[in-house]
Amino acid sequence: MAKVSLHLLRELYSESVKILGNSYAPYSNFHVGAAVLMENDRGERKMFTGTNVENASYGLTVCAERVALLKGVSEGYRRVVALSLVAESDGEIKEVVPCGACLQVMAEFGDENLPVYNGAKVFKLGDLLPHTFNLRV
Ligand code: THU
Repeated sequence: MAKVSLHLLRELYSESVKILGNSYAPYSNFHVGAAVLMENDRGERKMFTGTNVENASYGLTVCAERVALLKGVSEGYRRVVALSLVAESDGEIKEVVPCGACLQVMAEFGDENLPVYNGAKVFKLGDLLPHTFNLRV
């Protein structure tokens, strides 16, 4: 996969910050915004954003990263090139990494070199989730 520039990751991060205000998190008050750059089979790239969306039935909550990723996949953009996320709670920015469920979804559509940027550090998907579940065992 082509290397992704820090400039691009910063752009994604600023889109994550922009979308953060749409986070629906009345139960945890932990707001998360995510932005993903995705690519379709024609090699066209497009950015998708998402926020966490909580539910009174807590387990139905969906994370920001999965909202963004699934928006892209459902529009035909099946390859994830880079992802960024930001979280805010008690008026403070929190430098978080994606939860395990989101990492597994990322692994479905991206490779181990996929950069994950939280505004402070660039991680590689393969470092965050070295072993993924798959059916080819
Ligand atoms: N959350 C995300 O949006 N992304 C993650 O990777 C982990 C957690 C959300 C879910 C819930 O609304 C809130 O953060 C607290 O867990």
